[in-house]
Amino acid sequence: MDIAGNVSRRVFVTGVFAAVGTTMAPGVAAGWARPHTYVLRARPATLSLGRRTVTTWAYDDILPGPAIEATAGQLVRARLVNELPADTTVHWHGIRIDPRMDGAPGFTQEPTPPGGSFDYVFRVPDPGTYFYHSHVGMQNDRGLYGTLIVADPREPLGYDQEFTVVLDDWLDGIGGTPDDVLRRLNASTAHDATIRSTVLGGVAGELRHPLYLVNGRPPEAPMTFHSRPGRRVRFRVINAAADTAFRVALGGHRMTVTHTDGFPCRPVAVDTFVIGMGERYDFVATLDAGAFPLVATAEGKGARAFAVVRTARRAVAPPSEVKVPQLDGRMLKYGDLNARRADHLARPARTVTVTLGMRPSGNEWTLNGRLSDDPMRLRVERGETIRIVLDNQSPMWHPMHLHGHTFQLRTGTGRSGPRKDTVNIKPRERLNLDVHADNPGEWMFHCHNLYHQEQGMMGALGYG
Ligand code: C2O
Ligand code: CU
Repeated sequence: MDIAGNVSRRVFVTGVFAAVGTTMAPGVAAGWARPHTYVLRARPATLSLGRRTVTTWAYDDILPGPAIEATAGQLVRARLVNELPADTTVHWHGIRIDPRMDGAPGFTQEPTPPGGSFDYVFRVPDPGTYFYHSHVGMQNDRGLYGTLIVADPREPLGYDQEFTVVLDDWLDGIGGTPDDVLRRLNASTAHDATIRSTVLGGVAGELRHPLYLVNGRPPEAPMTFHSRPGRRVRFRVINAAADTAFRVALGGHRMTVTHTDGFPCRPVAVDTFVIGMGERYDFVATLDAGAFPLVATAEGKGARAFAVVRTARRAVAPPSEVKVPQLDGRMLKYGDLNARRADHLARPARTVTVTLGMRPSGNEWTLNGRLSDDPMRLRVERGETIRIVLDNQSPMWHPMHLHGHTFQLRTGTGRSGPRKDTVNIKPRERLNLDVHADNPGEWMFHCHNLYHQEQGMMGALGYG
């Protein structure tokens, strides 16, 4: 079968779904009926962000890129076609994947050069909410990302409809690129508060138009999710931003968080939760009649991303400021919602410590004292369960992400924390991550703040 000819219409179809921001009610039939072959054309694109038009890089000229859907256990085929003026890769964030398909340049594969293509073919073993993105430099932050939703053929979570909600930040002042921002950051010093607060907290300075996006849409031209009163809706929230954690709330509704990073947790009802870069949270809510703000406040930045959930023709109540109580991944408990995956890890036999540090320059971030040009390489034995003690000795929080695995967070009491692949660690905090080494390869372990990643905070965990 001719892949290219076969695929374009399908990409078009999924692209329309992505643009509408909705997927159909779950069900085995829908999952199987969808095609699982895709073409991702990475290329320069002109996108309209509300009133602003930007020239950037994207997959298939849309933001997010084509929505990829599969059912757990299936093969996904995705042909990357590189029409960029630079090398690129695709990383399948959160998937326990064959390392040759992991898109980690310098670790497991050579990047695809301009004019080249690469066929990613891999099985998706676990249901859940995932995404994909370029893993070269700051390319993810230019817009090279999309959603990857893996349906469960025996979905235990009853719901009527689902929406995928992708959060992003757009910090480069529209005219610039993330690489310009990175260059300015690199040229700054620890004492240069302006650029630092601009990129990592404030909205002042040179970056006059930071935007916070939901499914590629800014607050002035928000995405609308259409539903009906009384429907139980699953929201799959993905943070694809480079530099922003968001506090998420749905006006007038409690949210029951059911999954994090694809894995079920013990359901917990909250008014708001915090999502770090690279994390995913799924929640369900039974919708009232009306139009409700879905608000994602950019932590520490005095701005927000915004969308509308509409079940009736009615004006949207203005979003109120999102308040405590907050929830983040560390407060979740492992849930056996889906018994098939209730695989608690054995007690780890060994502990390794990973220290997160900042060099005095203020623009170099280290793992066990090393920068990514000579990276930390943790060696473990195939088949063992190890405990990684993350010890954050830096003054900033970091969303740490491990490729190819999920880990189990162990909290102080020894109770079972959630299974995750990305976790926010606060300044001066220590966290225990238990990992079962069951997927041999050389796996990146890094901060998902892309500026930190590019400023050195990138290492690896490996075994044969
Ligand atoms: Cu989404 Cu190495 O990361
Ligand atoms: Cu970091």
